Amino acid sequence: MNKIKVGIIGSGGIARAHAAAYKKLPFVEVTAVADVVPGKALEFVAAAGLTDAAAFDSHTELLAEGLDAVSICTPNASHHRTTVDALRSGKHVLLEKPMAVSLDEALDMVQAQRETGRMLSIGFQPRYDPNMKRLQDIIRSGRLGDVYYVETGGGRRRGMPGGTFIRKSLSGAGAMADIGCYSLDMALNALGYPRPVSVSAFASSHFGTNPLYHAEAIHFEVEDFGVAMIRFENDMVLQFKIAWAMHMDTLGPTMFLGTNAGLKVLPYGSGPWSGVWDGSIGSMMLYHDDFGGLTQTEVPLIEHRLDLFFEKVRDFAEAVRDGRDAPIPGEQILIQQAIIDGVFRSAEAKREVSVELPVYA
Ligand SMILES: NC(=O)c1ccc[n+]([C@@H]2O[C@H](COP(=O)([O-])OP(=O)(O)OC[C@H]3O[C@@H](n4cnc5c(N)ncnc54)[C@H](O)[C@@H]3O)[C@@H](O)[C@H]2O)c1
Repeated sequence: MNKIKVGIIGSGGIARAHAAAYKKLPFVEVTAVADVVPGKALEFVAAAGLTDAAAFDSHTELLAEGLDAVSICTPNASHHRTTVDALRSGKHVLLEKPMAVSLDEALDMVQAQRETGRMLSIGFQPRYDPNMKRLQDIIRSGRLGDVYYVETGGGRRRGMPGGTFIRKSLSGAGAMADIGCYSLDMALNALGYPRPVSVSAFASSHFGTNPLYHAEAIHFEVEDFGVAMIRFENDMVLQFKIAWAMHMDTLGPTMFLGTNAGLKVLPYGSGPWSGVWDGSIGSMMLYHDDFGGLTQTEVPLIEHRLDLFFEKVRDFAEAVRDGRDAPIPGEQILIQQAIIDGVFRSAEAKREVSVELPVYA
């Protein structure tokens, strides 16, 4: 069987996890790596033990190689250019989250995907926690009735990144896009990605810009806190709140309020980085009226030892091999990109703004 040939664009932190996952897949070979910092891709190839991979100093040189697919592991602001170029050169794309830094960019990426018929999959590894699937099954079973209110998000008491994550020209946004995209994907995917109509939001950067809290405060150009109220076409509202840093231990659980029952969801793990939803579910409690009174039932969790990041890379590679659709389609994630876009427009305008989506989303 011919192996599928994969390239990695961007050879920083998360590229290591992509390389390690591909190396475990016998039907994949990583044959090219590119990074804009001269010599960095070459160092990466050696450090990751990718003995058969060529190293390039630009993604366009890499895309001229005969590859089936690429992992895009560049800072957020480069996702658009590298993805569109990869799709238009005939490669399937596994793109790291968040999808893009603006709705216009995300629309352009989806247009390239639709025109080329290649796959564009966005890398949300928490989807591979079997308990995320259980959450989705509970919501979609109708057990909650009509869900009219959702609250999600997460906060780190202290957990502000630096480097490329805080410079707006590279990251495009701060906490709302970096970790907020996980909370939005968990809640919206469980709900079947309803269409948003408007957003009212607030964002601030009191911690990141203060040298007492951030060593790179002078370079901090994004938000470290944000909150938004999002209205949907189906008459549901979602409150979304995210903090990279705060004087509080938690921003509370994720909750789904329905006409027949409510569901409280807590993340796996505890401590200052918990509640961010880049991992697994820790507990689910269903609140309902039964047996003549107010009742609550703990939802049994599925025990597993899955490496969620490996599962995401494996699913993508198998989809390339088997000619399947994108596991986490860009067309779907466009909806949360529209919300994040609305969050920043609303925060800047200090009022509610409407969200416009193309008909196919
Ligand atoms: N899924 C996850 O768990 C997870 C975790 C961390 C980061 N991420 C995402 O992965 C992406 C990268 O994050 P990171 O922590 O690896 O960042 P990083 O800064 O460590 O690495 C990014 C690399 O991309 C290179 N680069 C920049 N522009 C490029 C271009 N046009 N072509 C080729 N290389 C380019 C940089 O030189 C750098 O080496 C971000 O979008 C981030 O949100 C995802």
